[in-house]
Amino acid sequence: MSKKGLTDTVPAAIAHKDMAVIVSSVSKSFTRWQRKERPQEQGASEEISDGASRDSNGTSRNSGKASRDSGGECFLQEKPGSRQKRIFGKGGIRTVFGQEKRTVTALDDVSFQVKRGEFVAYAGPNGAGKSTTMKLLAGMLQPTAGSVSVLGMSPEKDRIRLMRKLGVLFGNRTELWWDHPVIQSFEWKKVVWDIPEAVYRRNLGMVTELLDIGEIRNTFARELSLGQRMRADLGMMLLHSPEVILLDEPTLGLDVVAKRQMIEFLKRLNREEGVTILVTSHDMDDLEEMARRILMISRGKLVYDGSFDGLRDIAGNLTHLTVTTDGRVPELAGCRLLEGKNGVFQFEVDLTRLPIRGMLERLSQADGILDIEIRKPPIEQVIAQLYQAWKCDAADF
Ligand SMILES: Nc1ncnc2c1ncn2[C@@H]1O[C@H](COP(=O)(O)OP(=O)(O)OP(=O)(O)O)[C@@H](O)[C@H]1O
Ligand SMILES: [Mg+2]
Repeated sequence: MSKKGLTDTVPAAIAHKDMAVIVSSVSKSFTRWQRKERPQEQGASEEISDGASRDSNGTSRNSGKASRDSGGECFLQEKPGSRQKRIFGKGGIRTVFGQEKRTVTALDDVSFQVKRGEFVAYAGPNGAGKSTTMKLLAGMLQPTAGSVSVLGMSPEKDRIRLMRKLGVLFGNRTELWWDHPVIQSFEWKKVVWDIPEAVYRRNLGMVTELLDIGEIRNTFARELSLGQRMRADLGMMLLHSPEVILLDEPTLGLDVVAKRQMIEFLKRLNREEGVTILVTSHDMDDLEEMARRILMISRGKLVYDGSFDGLRDIAGNLTHLTVTTDGRVPELAGCRLLEGKNGVFQFEVDLTRLPIRGMLERLSQADGILDIEIRKPPIEQVIAQLYQAWKCDAADF
């Protein structure tokens, strides 16, 4: 092998070893069967509850006679004095109840990598392709094109081997045995997964304490509240000490206390145990609190990979300024007044146009100021702005 060949391959091998997840040019399409649109639904005529059709004057067009719909494909015949109809003509009954095949591209040429020990947020609007990505990483689906590697293994080919190192939690599903106490599902996992007793005891102790599972260990899964069920599912998922965990909306429906507890637990797991975490959520504040890096997906395409502050920059980075005065309206040129009442005024400032020094100078010259508070734009608002922009871009195509 040439010297050049060696230098080329070694860094690649090291890079691969450091990576927990590698997604390369992955596309995923689904074939969806859906009800064919009936000509009446597209045309001017309107469907009435008994299946006959009316013209725009509201007159039924098939009373006692055969009639042709606007597509000219199908005949409805009604027996005089009866509400029964028969369907004839080209396509016949299939024209009315037929299904058509549609291809949905859930992921379109998506590539990203996650290093071992990273905590990455994966966000995007409804239907963007987040759960599909999680399922591909877990080996529950196969890509239509491209390749996926988790801890150097193919989820498709090495699924059983990979499952020993991977933990997967879908917020809307449970792995617990419905008609058994929680602890029984835990014991079952220990046996089936062949988890060594010492590992099981240690992990059981950790999740019992940190996820506050003690009280619900002996409760039947079917009797758990949503938040309790989620904690029990997360606890069970961690019993085999996974190195990478995939969480699809783990905070779904949790109350503020349960959510805080889960977030703190996940941060600790990442920090102290070095577990790699990829998490989806629609709660951007939660994501920002947990992860430093965010991947954003929209209509199956990866549209952002970077920091949360980088997202703020894209969206214009409008800093929020709250000014409390003795009642006077502060005159702050370059700051946009959003609202003001009872002496408290909210402004929006574009720091790329008015640098912080200039803003502070203007504040120091204004009369009657009692207090000021400067905040980064809330990430929820930034993301809402971006989603809206992407929606408009898509509509332009
Ligand atoms: N099994 C399936 N069959 C057909 N289409 C599917 C299937 N699973 C997902 N899709 C489609 O793929 C697209 C992406 O779905 P996905 O569940 O990945 O979105 P998501 O980002 O997780 O959305 P949400 O935030 O609502 O959970 C959607 O258009 C969805 O309808
Ligand atoms: Mg989803």
